[in-house]
Amino acid sequence: MNKLTIEPSGGGVGAFVSGIDLNGKISADDISSVRNALGDHGVLFLRNQQISPEHHIAFAEQFAEININRFFTPVADYPKIAEVRKEPDQKKNIGGGWHTDHSYDTDPAIGSILLALETPPTGGDTIFASMYSAYETLSDGLKETLSRLRATHSSRHVFGPDAPRFKEKDNDIGDRLRNADTATQDAVHPMIIRHPISGRKALYVNPGFTVGIEGWAEKESKALLEMLYEHAKQPEHLYRFQWAPGSIAFWDNRATWHHAVNDYHGKRRLMHRVTLSGEALAA
Ligand code: SIN
Repeated sequence: MNKLTIEPSGGGVGAFVSGIDLNGKISADDISSVRNALGDHGVLFLRNQQISPEHHIAFAEQFAEININRFFTPVADYPKIAEVRKEPDQKKNIGGGWHTDHSYDTDPAIGSILLALETPPTGGDTIFASMYSAYETLSDGLKETLSRLRATHSSRHVFGPDAPRFKEKDNDIGDRLRNADTATQDAVHPMIIRHPISGRKALYVNPGFTVGIEGWAEKESKALLEMLYEHAKQPEHLYRFQWAPGSIAFWDNRATWHHAVNDYHGKRRLMHRVTLSGEALAA
């Protein structure tokens, strides 16, 4: 029997997991080790996992109930799996900017398990950033200020009917996203959270969905958030994952950001994403 091994990526975030076969039965000890590793490393990478949708769902359900993302079009016959697809004739990709999924929800999703089915011959990488190290490398003074602040997150400007993409001439997202009318709610979270698994502190704002700091004027919010984003995007906090069919990235939204690089026009990229329901976040 293979032994589960967890090897840090060597970059600013993430670890590689081996000795586990998602087609087979996974012991409770291994699930517990994977959960703790997720909390410690923020994102876990697995290779050569040629799994069925049923195995993908079954693996995810050992961590939490599945959250069906209301904006992503699901895979036919599998409502629990969101499709992340870009066709050779499409220009826009999904997730092509720094973000943390679901921060617009009151109880943000734990994270997602993204499985690569078809990948372009080159390009289509995903870059991850550690929000642990983004936090830990701030000055004590700024940490103290941030510890008292909360920020508002929204899905309206990304998924709602007034999202800029609907006005862009080259918008070809088409039916890959849906339910714009349900992008109606905002959520407020502490700007520094204590991670529910690891207990470590992490920066919890992101360029995709954070729209302002509670009680601050728009231009004040923008200035501080921009400064934090520049800080968090530094190469020291990053790892760039190269996909192949059967690769998996299992990321934790509370400890990381991610950015799907859109550099493979003319080629197909097809991924299946299963998202895990989460909980309210505390400082
Ligand atoms: C996403 O943001 O969920 C998609 C990430 C990717 O396609 O690499």
